[in-house]
Amino acid sequence: MADLFDKIVKNMGPIGEHAKESHGYFTFPKLEGEINTHMVFRGKAMLNWSLNNYLGLANHPEVRKADADAAMQYGLALPMGARMMSGNSDNHEALENELSQFVKKEATFLLNFGYQGVISAIDALVDRRDAIVYDAESHACIIDGVRLHQGKRFVFTHNDMASLDKQLQRATKLVAETGGAILVITEGVFGMRGDLGALDEIVKMKEKYQFRLFVDDAHGFGTMGKTGAGTGEHFGVQDQIDVYFSTFAKSMAGIGAFVSSKKEIITYLQYNMRSQIFAKSLPMPLVVGMRKRLELIRTTPELKENLWKIVYALQAGLKENGLEIGPTQSPVTPVYLSGSIPEATYMVHDLRENYGIFCSMVTYPVIPKGMIILRLIPTAVHTIEDVAITLAAFKTVAVKLKAGEYLHDKIVAGVSASL
Ligand SMILES: Cc1ncc(COP(=O)(O)O)c(C=O)c1O
Repeated sequence: MADLFDKIVKNMGPIGEHAKESHGYFTFPKLEGEINTHMVFRGKAMLNWSLNNYLGLANHPEVRKADADAAMQYGLALPMGARMMSGNSDNHEALENELSQFVKKEATFLLNFGYQGVISAIDALVDRRDAIVYDAESHACIIDGVRLHQGKRFVFTHNDMASLDKQLQRATKLVAETGGAILVITEGVFGMRGDLGALDEIVKMKEKYQFRLFVDDAHGFGTMGKTGAGTGEHFGVQDQIDVYFSTFAKSMAGIGAFVSSKKEIITYLQYNMRSQIFAKSLPMPLVVGMRKRLELIRTTPELKENLWKIVYALQAGLKENGLEIGPTQSPVTPVYLSGSIPEATYMVHDLRENYGIFCSMVTYPVIPKGMIILRLIPTAVHTIEDVAITLAAFKTVAVKLKAGEYLHDKIVAGVSASL
């Protein structure tokens, strides 16, 4: 009989198997000093394109002050219980009302984390008679929520309306037998490629099929739409999104999340979401801090304008330099390259050590073998000069990669020792 721990240490998992070489550099890197677009990594100055801080609110002086004042006033302990029992406050309810107004929904429920929130919302919304139809490239939290579902699930090819149509047909047939209903789940902005969920086309399917639509807009909230209210606003279909979700971890540069919908649906979620009933509610300083961030998003459109100025310059520049960025329509900026995992690691090492550029790298098993994605997250606090430095560096490393300069045997001695 196998011992569980023996089995685990023999197989550390697809990412964990590289931990020995990657830990502290490619994985779990320790960013030092003030974390911002310019910061320090292992003693070296870096230009950072890997922070979830689209609107630059993390270091905004008003945000820092609001966070600090709230921590001073309330401490980190408050509230001391789940929302339903002893964790409610005027501030929690005020933030919910402000979010509802901003995303144009009747009501909102705060969630202590986005990941658990999505899982738990999906779990609460459907029962075993219902069917879930979801996009194949959905974020892990959607996949995990779907995994909890005891009824049938149907996956449609990413953003492919013919595939969605087919799966809706199958789901409709099934629920006619079970007496259940259908929940379609997709994202506003897909965080890896940056392409948008085809919300305009998906809502058109409502003319043909009966279903409710759940949209995870983690990357769209604050960045997309005229007012920053998200991808639904961008497409003009916000009213057709039945359950709207976003995290505070991206544009809001915080922690926590929220779900918005019709009043009675939010009441149902308040009383049925296990991640909220059986867990402590969002700490008071975070709630107060999020109110300040939302106020700034509402009243300072320049934040989003600056973000998009950087996005356009970066994405146009990468394309002009012959780099492939795929179908992104959002600030998420992936650079697609061909190469092996060792080549990707040497290239990222070169970017960090010799060009002072810090970005994330995505390789197999997250994407197919032989592909490398370097993912850049522009923010409102990057500058055009930052973009110019980055374009020059990317142009050079892409040429080196093509010339095979990151192949093992061509690497100058000592590189791996410094990882
Ligand atoms: C699409 C999407 N949904 C949900 C989450 C999870 O949110 P949180 O970080 O608040 O748990 C993320 C990542 O943060 C995400 O990218």
